[in-house]
Amino acid sequence: MAGFRTKAIHVGQEPEEVTGAVAVPVFQTSTYAQKELGAEVQFDYARTINPTRLALERNLAALENGEFGYCFASGMSAIVAALSLVKTGDHVIAAGDMYGGSYRYFARVLSEYNIEFSYVDMRDIANIDHAVRPNTKMIYSETPTNPMMNLTDLGELASFAKKHKLISVVDNTFMSPYFQNPLDHGIDIVVHSATKYIGGHSDLIGGCLVTNRSDIAERVKFYQNSAGAVPGPWDCWLLLRSVKTLAIRMEAHSANAQGIAEFLSTHPKVKAVFYPGLPSHPQHDIANKQMRGFGGMIAFETGSLSNAKRFAAALRLFTLGESLGGVESLVCHPVSMTHGSVPIERRHELGITDGLVRLSCGIEDYEDLLADVKNALEAM
Ligand SMILES: Cc1ncc(COP(=O)(O)O)c(C=O)c1O
Repeated sequence: MAGFRTKAIHVGQEPEEVTGAVAVPVFQTSTYAQKELGAEVQFDYARTINPTRLALERNLAALENGEFGYCFASGMSAIVAALSLVKTGDHVIAAGDMYGGSYRYFARVLSEYNIEFSYVDMRDIANIDHAVRPNTKMIYSETPTNPMMNLTDLGELASFAKKHKLISVVDNTFMSPYFQNPLDHGIDIVVHSATKYIGGHSDLIGGCLVTNRSDIAERVKFYQNSAGAVPGPWDCWLLLRSVKTLAIRMEAHSANAQGIAEFLSTHPKVKAVFYPGLPSHPQHDIANKQMRGFGGMIAFETGSLSNAKRFAAALRLFTLGESLGGVESLVCHPVSMTHGSVPIERRHELGITDGLVRLSCGIEDYEDLLADVKNALEAM
């Protein structure tokens, strides 16, 4: 099997048949001419199938070492597609400190349809074990979690799910397929917000779902066509263009983040640093076991809301903004931004304090990012 960079550049992207175009064309069409009434056609309607989207789906499936890939209009719609596999009366065990938007969808939308959720700390599989009920159907995890950078042991999670005949889902957004492949550990479904590292340039919203299970693939494909939250061909084209540089971008994100995390961890004004690449991270051994790199995301504790405000205001290169994974560095205050929809008691339980700051380290020059962070800490 080819290496990651080769797959990123070639899978699904053979030269186009009619003209030989090396870059997959943008098939900007809603429908396709059919030769005669009743003839079997591969391409009938663009919600169902589009050649630019198909190229991306094949490519992302290959990058996640999966057989079946489906693209969606956002990360959330990929997550919604995964959750379409459960129904009224079912129970789902979900990660306690996942992305706030996923929590909002589970707690405020699906709960209204009588789908039950238990939110557990997935650092310890025993917590999942205690939460299992007769009607449990799915385990939904995120590793590392957003924003606390907690890890779930993927191999342990997969064997637990298999033993109890539960569908296992992992949101792999923070690592991207370059640093972590949950399916290799036996996980059933991997989802991504392609808006983040896969897209990498902060210029689109997208999502994908990859699986090796043909029974799941069949249901997701049916759901994708029925619900219709598909990405347009331009966004698919941009994503195809982006994945070609995913490997080199991830190396740069990770190198910058490692250096900044190490610097933060020695700074007297910083109370705690959450980054799996630090030997002081309590799950550093799990990180080494299942991740090939530690990514570009860091969370750290400034101690108070006013410190967090002063730090964010003093930064010059890190832009205050939601999202992550782009080439440009971003700073985010989870309490008031990404995790605003998580109830305050839950946030306290999870350690998402008023003083917590999250950095998405971009691929700018390391010395410039470090100087920016140093300077902002002085202003704090
Ligand atoms: C880990 C994670 N999963 C899913 C999502 C949702 O993705 P999207 O915004 O593309 O719908 C996000 C968005 O921030 C995220 O951080």
